[in-house]
Order: sequence, then structure tokens, then C-alpha cells
Amino acid sequence: MVQDQSHRLPPVFVALDMAQAEVEPMLDRLEGLNLGLKVGMELFYQTGPDFVRQLAARAPVFLDLKLHDIPNTVASAAARIADLGVRLTTVHASGGRAMLEGLAALERPDFRFFAVTVLTSADRAELDGLGIAEPDPGEHARHLFRLASDCGLDGFVCSPQEVAALRALRDDALFVTPGVRPAGAARDDQSRIATPADAMARGASSLVIGRPITRAADPRAAAEAILAEIDGHG
Ligand code: C5P
Repeated sequence: MVQDQSHRLPPVFVALDMAQAEVEPMLDRLEGLNLGLKVGMELFYQTGPDFVRQLAARAPVFLDLKLHDIPNTVASAAARIADLGVRLTTVHASGGRAMLEGLAALERPDFRFFAVTVLTSADRAELDGLGIAEPDPGEHARHLFRLASDCGLDGFVCSPQEVAALRALRDDALFVTPGVRPAGAARDDQSRIATPADAMARGASSLVIGRPITRAADPRAAAEAILAEIDGHG
């Protein structure tokens, strides 16, 4: 895979939601393509930091650990994560101002924290149950976006449905969006989806795409088609 040395993100992070034994054969099939890799909790807790370090030597890695704890603990954990050589990791914006400001101070050109606002699994009833005064998910997402942005973060994870509204609030931010499906691909468990070109047109900086690539009969052809579609858009 192409190692991107600049501050730019790869156009697509492939979600490696799979067993450790399946990763190497998948990377072999995708070798040489301009792709990043997303490692989530499932793979990280199977494999640990050494495995992530090895991946990060081969391709830009998005380590999706969604940090949320007291500011000191999160800052200490974040410093360890930065040592792994990954390009970005995620934090919950709901961790609050002190936690977010502490993280912004640890950012480097090649390592950033991306804020997660409201999880797409959380609806109005869920936010109401958490005691959130304004439980509209879109409103609450914008509130948390402004908080993280004020604290110095400029990277966000959001759905293709939210990205245009958030980019309108801040055009210089980076937005990574999952929930992407090429036309004709299986939806799997994703409900509100956009095509790769659509998500980019709405303002995404990079896409997270898993099963449409990793479960395709020919993952390399699927990834190439997605990259071509995005390139065509841009
Ligand atoms: O296979 P698929 O393309 O649906 O994978 C999407 C990836 O993005 C998964 O790792 C999933 O956990 C993650 N994700 C998501 N929706 C969110 C946040 C993360 O699909 N709201």
C-alpha cells in the first residue's frame, strides 16, 4: 500500500472488521492501492499495539478507539497511541472541554484526534434517557461539534447525512464518513447510506468502507472501482 507521508488523508480507509488471521491475506489483495486501514476495537483488542504498529508501517492507520475518560487518563493514553505511528484516533466529544483541549495540545501534523459527536445508534429516546436537555440527535451533534471545534480539534467522524451541515459550519475541518455503499452493493446493517461519490460531493474528506470491499468476491476490483468513482467526482 502507498504510504502517504503528507498530512493529507487517504481517500478511503478500509474497515478491517475481521479476525487477525484474515488481515494479511486482505492486505496482500489490496497491495499498492491508495488506501488507509481502519482498526476498530474488535481487532485492536484481539491483536494489541504491536500489530497496529506493523500495520502503520505499511499504510495510514485510523485507530478507532473512541476515548472517553478523565482528562489526565485520556491524555496519557493518547500519548501512547501517538507512539504507534497511527494517523488518527477517535475520541468522544462528550468527554468535555478539558479532555478535548488536552488532546488538541498533543496533535501533530501527522497525528490527529477525530471527534465523534452523537453515535448513529442513538436516537431521541436514547438521548432523553441520558438526561440531555435538547435530545434532538442533529442538534446535539451540532452542539458537540462546536464544542470540539472550539477546543481546537478539526477532525470529525460523521454520517453522510450530517456532513454537509457540519461542513457549512466549518469548511476547513476534516470529515471522515462511514455508512457508504457503492450503487448496487448490499446495504448490510447500514440504513442511511450514500454512494462514495455522493458522500464526497456532500463534503466528506475521506470515507470508511468495510464490507463492500472486504466481503466482495474480488476486494481489489471493488476497491479500485470505489477509488475510480471518487476520482471521477473530484
Ligand atoms: O462494513 P461497513 O462499510 O458497514 O463498515 C463501516 C465501519 O464504520 C465499521 O467499522 C463501523 O463500525 C464503522 N462505523 C459505522 N457507523 C458509524 C460509526 C462507525 O458504520 N456511525
